[in-house]
Amino acid sequence: MLNRGIRAKVVGTGMYVPDRVVTNEDLAGLMDTSDEWIQQRTGIKERRYIEPGQMPADLAQAACEQALEAAGLEVGDLDFILLATLSSQHEFPGTSFFLHEQLDAGHVPCLDLRAQCSGFLYALNFADGLIQSGKSKRVMVVGCEVQSTGIDRTTEGRDVAVIFGDGAGAVILEANEVESDSAGILDVKLHSEGKHARRLWIEAPSSGHMPCRLTREMIDEKRHFPYMDGRHVFKHAVTRMPEVLKESLANASIKIDDVDLFLFHQANLRINEYVAQKLEIAPDRTFSNIERFGNCSAASIPMLLAEAERNGILAPGKIVTLTAFGSGFTWGSAVLRW
Ligand code: UT7
Repeated sequence: MLNRGIRAKVVGTGMYVPDRVVTNEDLAGLMDTSDEWIQQRTGIKERRYIEPGQMPADLAQAACEQALEAAGLEVGDLDFILLATLSSQHEFPGTSFFLHEQLDAGHVPCLDLRAQCSGFLYALNFADGLIQSGKSKRVMVVGCEVQSTGIDRTTEGRDVAVIFGDGAGAVILEANEVESDSAGILDVKLHSEGKHARRLWIEAPSSGHMPCRLTREMIDEKRHFPYMDGRHVFKHAVTRMPEVLKESLANASIKIDDVDLFLFHQANLRINEYVAQKLEIAPDRTFSNIERFGNCSAASIPMLLAEAERNGILAPGKIVTLTAFGSGFTWGSAVLRW
């Protein structure tokens, strides 16, 4: 960790989900599944899908405008916009550029960052680096996903289809002078292991595919839908998440008993219950929204932060950890003083 007397502090949060609620019963009308199966295996009751005409950047815009308002800032006050997503609005450029246009962000630099469900933590790490190095004073970090348009809503795709939802979350980070107990990011620890890349991926379109990136044959074979080896992902998630959480707590010199709130990526409530059990974390020290929003990949953690702050679970001085695992594989954990 850099140590230049500067810490990146969260000064505003925001979140947005589309209005359209899709219940487990709704999905059971499209595929062979049931409310009981989905709730028992994942904890999810419903998720949100975009309406026709809504775009990823629309969701991100609403979340960012909330975060800017909460921080009392204008978009022109930002030095950088980092947007984490696995469901980019177009092949290129990324969602961040359409968000940029909608926010009327002048010449503020922006980019999309791809680290799937760990994407927000990866973006947080880069934002922290920009701020600690003195290159940026204020950075907006956004997680935004529209997954509903990219899933196979038939029985064949049911393992993935029932978990994913659409949503966006944003935080604004600002340089803060370090004093012993000042608020901000205390540590971010990240890992990747590419040998598992094909265990959770969307193969097509692929720039390495001849004669073109997407063929009718690929679509017929459903290679443009996500494939997930669910058990393999589950097994790695419940091992890696506690490991990296302990690593980042050690780096930040924070004891597990001193953490007020543990926030986990909302992939599957059962994964998070396993992790909490392994680390002997009582349920009242965690907060979830998966039952209402499903798995919103890179948007899950900033959505949790915004909700936790709105309902008073997160208050100044609290120690909070953020931990995620996802496709790549990628995983990571952050420790913050709020
Ligand atoms: O966010 C990024 C990372 N993603 C994750 O962390 C997800 C990790 N994995 C999981 O959450 C779980 O593996 C799932 C929720 C996806 C699946 O739960 P599972 O307990 O691992 O089920 P399974 O894949 O082992 O399948 C058990 C059975 C199978 O039937 P058979 O072969 O036993 O007859 C599946 O075909 O459940 C069946 N199944 C379903 N049944 C009803 C799979 N999906 C569904 C479904 N509804 N939606």
